Amino acid sequence: MIKHDVVIVGSGLAGMRAALEVCKDLDVAVLSKVYPTRSHSGAAQGGIAASLGNSEPDSWEEHFYDTVKGGDFLNDQDAVEEFVKAAPSVIYELEHLGCVFSRTPNGKIAQRSFGGHSKPRACFSADRTGHAILHALHEQLLKSAKSVKIYSEWYMHSLILDGDRCNGIVVSDIRTGAVEVMQARAVIFATGGYGRVFNITSNAFAGTADGVMSAYRAGIPIEDAEFVQYHPSGLYRQGILFSEAARGEGGYLLNGKGERFMEKYAPSRMELAPRDIVARAEQSEMDAGRGVDGKDIIHLDLRHLGKARIMERLPQIRQLGIDFIGVDCITDPLPIQPTAHYSMGGIPVDKFGQVISDAEGTPVKGFFAAGECACVSVHGANRLGTNSLLDAVVFGERAGKVALEYAKTVGHAPVNESHEKTKVLELFEEIFQQDGGECYNDIRNEMKTIMTENCGVFRDADRLKVCIETIQNLRQRYKKGKVTDKGKVFNTEVYEIIELGNMLGMAEVIATAALARNESRGGHHRTDFPKRDDQNFLKHSLVYLTDDGMEIKYKPVVITKHQPAERTY
Ligand code: FUM
Repeated sequence: MIKHDVVIVGSGLAGMRAALEVCKDLDVAVLSKVYPTRSHSGAAQGGIAASLGNSEPDSWEEHFYDTVKGGDFLNDQDAVEEFVKAAPSVIYELEHLGCVFSRTPNGKIAQRSFGGHSKPRACFSADRTGHAILHALHEQLLKSAKSVKIYSEWYMHSLILDGDRCNGIVVSDIRTGAVEVMQARAVIFATGGYGRVFNITSNAFAGTADGVMSAYRAGIPIEDAEFVQYHPSGLYRQGILFSEAARGEGGYLLNGKGERFMEKYAPSRMELAPRDIVARAEQSEMDAGRGVDGKDIIHLDLRHLGKARIMERLPQIRQLGIDFIGVDCITDPLPIQPTAHYSMGGIPVDKFGQVISDAEGTPVKGFFAAGECACVSVHGANRLGTNSLLDAVVFGERAGKVALEYAKTVGHAPVNESHEKTKVLELFEEIFQQDGGECYNDIRNEMKTIMTENCGVFRDADRLKVCIETIQNLRQRYKKGKVTDKGKVFNTEVYEIIELGNMLGMAEVIATAALARNESRGGHHRTDFPKRDDQNFLKHSLVYLTDDGMEIKYKPVVITKHQPAERTY
């Protein structure tokens, strides 16, 4: 059995920031199914929000209101207030840790505009901001190597819970296939989101809901799963992110007639309306036959920005266009469409990263979560761009601090090693023994297609019902697949099958929560219930796994300063 004081699963911004707190006083393991600097945080491009006011006067109060309005008033406002107040010091801290931010001519940290933010608030490193922060944090972790052990290419299978206390996790080493129990006084999940459930997504291959689903299987609900963000500028058919920074720098969105159609949908903010509104506008144009060349394509036009600005501010997206489709945005518009980008929902946590198991806030002792896998909820029904890197760093730090304090007060609880290991070994064995005629790739592709088509930017009851039936059917077929590689060493096939199992479970949860929410709010738009319904749905959903299947409960939204108001831009 492997033993650490604290184990963190996930090595993106939230996981690494948490580790930097824990290692101040205790020994910490960071476990990741990829190498840490390949974590999905590295794909975040455009910036990290803070009301520094370096470009225009700004305040935390304005950041607060923009975030709540952007989230369609589903955000828990007590958490939002602390989140935005923490932002400026987080930026300075990151800079002192070695993150190089782009500068203004007079040497201050430069700030650009982003959707839904009323002030230029995004601090950035060209269009590689996540990458810059990720590497800075990784360097700091390497510096603390004495008290941090990094397990790269290890997979987390399950949580070890005893009543209301978490005592560790069960893991396996992808290189050897060896299954191990990791006993810990506290566990922090920073396992990211689940965009890979969809066909068109900006998410890395790792975004397969592993953390969220293992919490769910252990009896912890998933909060607000119906709220998935579709980013307006994914590369056509591939979903790869072209940063919103492109629009922040002045880029236009054009339909097939060459019109800047956003003037119909958000006349005051145009291309810099919040993402839910821009994605719906794009989809509406395409559905009305006004896509480019009659296809599901919108043009992101940057030509007027000029080569110098593009090379200074947007070099990565220029290169992505050239590498993936041979389009240079200096001379030609980029073909884009909405892409599944971010999960507003996740494992319910309080504002300190403590996982809670019900509407009353009952803690799961020793279990913490931060970043995209967690639902605080600071983003409500729709996250503003640049608030996610901030979320990962702010709540990563908090979860690390609180887990450290907790772990210092408790010893390691006993764990039944062979029982815990056996459950995972049986899972492997089951997959190896299955000998049906189903192809896992087909199942994966069918899941992604139905989720994008029936649970995407626009939803309705009929399509969601078909979606749920299809996913349930795919879950049955999943039990009849056949693995071709039965080896132990680097058996990536079997890990992809386990991930697929997680994604199928997650897909059903998303679609079920979406069917139950008979209103439109933020990223969840029901064409059969096109209005927001505060009377009946100003509440967070909690989906539980029970012996009789899924159960949905709700809990109230915390409103402190801003009552729900009409959301116009
Ligand atoms: O468009 C982007 O650069 C994405 C940023 C974010 O999701 O916060």
